[in-house]
Amino acid sequence: MKLGIIGGSGLTHLRNLTVQERRVFRTPYGEPSAPMVHGTVGGQDVIFLPRHGQAHTIPPHRVNYQANLWALKESGATHVVAVNAVGAINTAFASGSLVLPDQIIDYTYDREHTFFGNSPEPVTHIDFTNPYCEMLREVLRRGAIEAGIDLAVGATYAATQGPRFETIAEIRRLERDGADIVGMTGMPEAGLARELALCYASVAVVANPAAGKADGEIDLREIERFLEGGMGKVRALLEHAIPLLYGVSA
Ligand code: HPA
Repeated sequence: MKLGIIGGSGLTHLRNLTVQERRVFRTPYGEPSAPMVHGTVGGQDVIFLPRHGQAHTIPPHRVNYQANLWALKESGATHVVAVNAVGAINTAFASGSLVLPDQIIDYTYDREHTFFGNSPEPVTHIDFTNPYCEMLREVLRRGAIEAGIDLAVGATYAATQGPRFETIAEIRRLERDGADIVGMTGMPEAGLARELALCYASVAVVANPAAGKADGEIDLREIERFLEGGMGKVRALLEHAIPLLYGVSA
């Protein structure tokens, strides 16, 4: 068993990671967002990959999700925790808080979203009824309790194309569709992970109220501030969840 961690906006480095090696990786789908960082958290082997690149230069629609997931799998990852910055549609989710989604609606387009497109093999379908790995969600839930961090369990994640934020009308539509949080990176990542049979779950960090859910427009400086606080919680959560996942006591 090995955990891969995909860091999102605000998490280009994992401060509690002891780095052993950085490996440039090539896949049949191109290069992942950055060299794969092999190291340990609390003595357990993990692989870290910053989704937007080391210097946060790759926008959500340009991330090579196929290469990232393929590289993690080939590097030995069996489980993947993805960290995703989101806007809150459901006003119960405060900025800076963490959410553990259980469902996804995909509104993205023009992204390579499957490994099954170009092979001569028969068309392959995958079950995606529950898009996230229940076992890993449970570990994260318990890790949050141990860490003393509030983690809102259960939310529908709307994946939008970006890189712009949404209009008020778009957010109203997502809300009518049943979405609680909105982000730009949840898909096709989760679907590709399932195709590779990786046990994948997302921890969403609320960066802002979605468009129209607070007075005024979206404040980018505020987002940075809340992401910083939120990512501190993610680090603490991972520190407690990783020993649980590996079956060792902290
Ligand atoms: N919309 C989409 N993606 C996001 C948002 C948002 O409001 N905040 C952070 N990522």
